[in-house]
Amino acid sequence: MASFFQHNVLRIKRLPRQLLGINPFTGDSMPTRVPIFSPGSGRPTLPFPHPWNFSQPISILETYFWGADSEQGAGKHNRYLDVPGFAPVLVTRDPGMIRAITTETGDREGQFDRDPLPSAGIARATGKDTLLYANGPSWKMQRKLAASPFGKTTLFQPEKFQEFAATFRHTIAQRLSALRDHLAGSGRQTLRIQLEPEIKAVMLEMLTNNFFGAGIAYEEIRTRYVPALERVIDYIVRDTVLNKLGIPVRKFPNLTSGMAQAKQHYARFDHLTDLVLDARKDGKGLWKQFKSDAPDEALRSNIKVFLAGALEATTSYASWAISHLARNLQAQDLVYQEVKDIDEYTPETLDSAKYFGQVLDETLRLTPSLYFLPRKATADTWIATSDGRRMFIPQGTHILLDIWHANRHEDHWGITPTGFPAIDFAPERWAEMAKRGLATKETLHFGFGHGPRVCPGKHLGQLEVGLVVGAMVKMFRFKADNPNNPAKAGVSTKPWDGTLVDLKLR
Ligand code: HEM
Repeated sequence: MASFFQHNVLRIKRLPRQLLGINPFTGDSMPTRVPIFSPGSGRPTLPFPHPWNFSQPISILETYFWGADSEQGAGKHNRYLDVPGFAPVLVTRDPGMIRAITTETGDREGQFDRDPLPSAGIARATGKDTLLYANGPSWKMQRKLAASPFGKTTLFQPEKFQEFAATFRHTIAQRLSALRDHLAGSGRQTLRIQLEPEIKAVMLEMLTNNFFGAGIAYEEIRTRYVPALERVIDYIVRDTVLNKLGIPVRKFPNLTSGMAQAKQHYARFDHLTDLVLDARKDGKGLWKQFKSDAPDEALRSNIKVFLAGALEATTSYASWAISHLARNLQAQDLVYQEVKDIDEYTPETLDSAKYFGQVLDETLRLTPSLYFLPRKATADTWIATSDGRRMFIPQGTHILLDIWHANRHEDHWGITPTGFPAIDFAPERWAEMAKRGLATKETLHFGFGHGPRVCPGKHLGQLEVGLVVGAMVKMFRFKADNPNNPAKAGVSTKPWDGTLVDLKLR
């Protein structure tokens, strides 16, 4: 109630300034205003999601920076929308600002929140009390609980690591062998295949069976749970924009066959969550690292976030890496030289595959899985970048940290700073940057976020993606037909063609 009251007071307070068109931001790094309508400008779409453009979120972000390259000041990389009656929206593709805002996101008084607005559909599918959606003390408490099973010290503790790498490798080997047999059985030299569904199934299998210890049959994963999760994730994106009443899908009446199907997919997602929680009783997988007496019901929402979120992010990351290597055969051969003799995956052997590491970094830079990070100002806040630029952000501002465009801009990642054009896939830029003494903490690609809300699944995700992509390169040579590699985007980004490649056995 108090926040409803506070929200309306804020709304009334900012109205006169909004009607006069006064910039709500101040400081020496002022963002510039984006008009709601801009007829004849050639802008790709309107600067907010609506039923006709929500399936092209990258275009919405692009709209904010339409014509911005001709600006001289901070407006080149910082833009805002201010519609009377609504809170201002700030969109930044300035890595210094992104770093300052992610560093200042947390549970302390006046720090930025993770903006729940773009995750409303996710929260309706999983529950609100999750690491991803919650803010303040509830988020902090869940963060502490997740630290042990996901932490680097757990996953990379030698004994634990061997156990994981072995089961992951076994799973991947089984799935890739099936592909190999399919190719050999076809009597052909090459097999044209969309790899995204294969990657998705193996990622979900590793998560449910190897990480959480639930023994679900692969066929069930592939034919029952992956399609259900795909549909749920699809509804999540639609639901965020279109479901203004905020009614969860399971409460909808079965008015259409589509609605009945949606409910069936949500029920399967629930069932998958039950199977994962069942493994907890026997302390299987990493459950034994999870030191909490919280009842299963209290964990349900977070498990759903892990299942749906991790599946999306790891599939996106691995699909992009394979997609880039399929268009850069020289890079693929260099990775092959590094992984061809690696049989044992240990932190040391993985570390020794330096070029492969750069390929993975370059993948997350150029094609980040999570392409924007949402934040909200909980109070009037001054932020400062590490090079001393300051911006005042008023309370209530919705902030979109536009990772996609920050990572593709010449100013930040182009020839002058890194030796290679920003929009090229060039793993060599990382060696060049190291040679130039550019500290990695100064040149962040934000692929796993930054600051207190950095991805807790980073080490698990890196391990899974490294093993899947490494095993693919070791067994097959793969080539894309189309040199272009555009993105489709929903909860995460993925190659538009479903990672279509021609596979050939090595
Ligand atoms: C390997 C691929 C992955 C990528 C690229 C990725 C990326 C990210 C990014 C960028 C964030 C920051 C969001 C923000 O700042 O607003 C994030 C947060 C998060 N990730 Fe990941 N992630 C990956 C894998 C995983 C896995 C495997 C899990 C869990 C099993 C996971 C669970 C989470 C959770 C729960 C959060 C929210 C953390 C918080 O707000 O405190 N992620 N991820």
